[in-house]
Amino acid sequence: MSFKKIRLLISFILKYWNSSEFQYFAWGFGGICKFPQGVTALRIPSLSRGFKQASGLFKCARGVKPLWKIATKWLILISIILSPGILLFSASEELYIRPHVNNVTTTSAKILWVTETKAPPGKVTLKSKQNSQKGESIVSAIEGREELLHTAAFKDLKPFTEYEYTVICNNKRAKGKFITAPEKGRAIQFVVYGDTRSNPEDHLKVSKAIAIDDPMFVACSGDLVSKGTKWKEWKEQFFDPAEAYLCKSAIWPMRGNHEKDGKFLYKLFDMPGNEHYFSFDFGDLHFVILDQYIKDKLPEMLEWFENDLKNNNSKWTFVGYHQPTFNTGGHASTWGRKDFLPIMEKYGVDIVLTGHSHLYERFLPIGPEGKKPIIHIVTGGGGAPLKKAEKNPALVGGTGISELHYCFFKINGDTLEMKVKKPDHTIIDQMTLIKKKGVYQDEVMKKAITTQKAEELLPDKKKKKK
Ligand SMILES: [Fe+2]
Ligand SMILES: [Fe+2]
Repeated sequence: MSFKKIRLLISFILKYWNSSEFQYFAWGFGGICKFPQGVTALRIPSLSRGFKQASGLFKCARGVKPLWKIATKWLILISIILSPGILLFSASEELYIRPHVNNVTTTSAKILWVTETKAPPGKVTLKSKQNSQKGESIVSAIEGREELLHTAAFKDLKPFTEYEYTVICNNKRAKGKFITAPEKGRAIQFVVYGDTRSNPEDHLKVSKAIAIDDPMFVACSGDLVSKGTKWKEWKEQFFDPAEAYLCKSAIWPMRGNHEKDGKFLYKLFDMPGNEHYFSFDFGDLHFVILDQYIKDKLPEMLEWFENDLKNNNSKWTFVGYHQPTFNTGGHASTWGRKDFLPIMEKYGVDIVLTGHSHLYERFLPIGPEGKKPIIHIVTGGGGAPLKKAEKNPALVGGTGISELHYCFFKINGDTLEMKVKKPDHTIIDQMTLIKKKGVYQDEVMKKAITTQKAEELLPDKKKKKK
């Protein structure tokens, strides 16, 4: 703020010092400053709360104690002087879409964000306990929009190292952190959840709970927004509510049917390879992500998928895509039973994570007779309108669960633990897998049902109708 503006502000204060309207206004301003930064929605209620506080306190000040009245005046003055600075600082935190970290490997990562208007490349400082790096964003246009995408790529990072970043761009600033992928053999923890669309307040509840668990990365099983071709929804339904964890964990998205043509999904996120189907390694985990909506390229994806699994030697293998292969509540999807499922069974995939139906379902282990089965999970409780849970003997506990939730995984050598949590951290399901010599502990193996049995219990309803 220039000296001229400060002088104007002081003369304005002195001129209107004795008007009660002005003092109420000042207290309202002060009220704003008392609340935490970053949550725009809080500002308006906080303003009215500030006014209420002001009127209450001011009534006291009009009473018998002149000293209190003087103190009040000084508080107002301090509040006014500090307010512009605090507000400017607060505003400087807000980029149109805050930075999020993609494509994390043992030695590299990309930080992406969006600015509202034309902005020069932003500066990024990356700091770990051992060293620091500086970088600059590459700015690219977003089709049909004035906003700009910024991508800052970092390489030569150290494995399993926490990096704090500061982005300064277009006079705005944002901070966050992430951890690079570890080599094999390290314990890891991460979250998978999905269907975050349509109700940002519910998505916010889930993402705040995720942030408390400190995942090293988060994977989202699709339908991030209601209509992927509507630009505003990406900020309102995904990035703003997810900010609670995006500032501390990398994100890996999957494409859902609501992402439509995927134009904004593939612009706003940076994934490896052709971005539609790819895999990444994180310690002892190999995670494959598929795109079910590439139409005529499905055979190509199938071939790539088989090759990827053939060359995978990680202890644990997850596959993620949107529409489930086994599912009863909601859409009762049966995707990939004929082509993708046999490949997953052949190469010993451990867990398949999907969404699309807005509830939680974990099936009994499913696999061909005599082979290690697969755990199929539907996790679609990230905020979208919940669907009615259904009962089915193929489900663990005989029923699905219709709750907002996320799946929190820990992998440590041969042991995998999963806790499925509601936003208040109540556990709605949990599972431990101990894998030795390519099979799970007896207790799990005994519960397995054959693929044929699962298909009988969960028939293709659309086929049946025909
Ligand atoms: Fe969907
Ligand atoms: Fe959905």
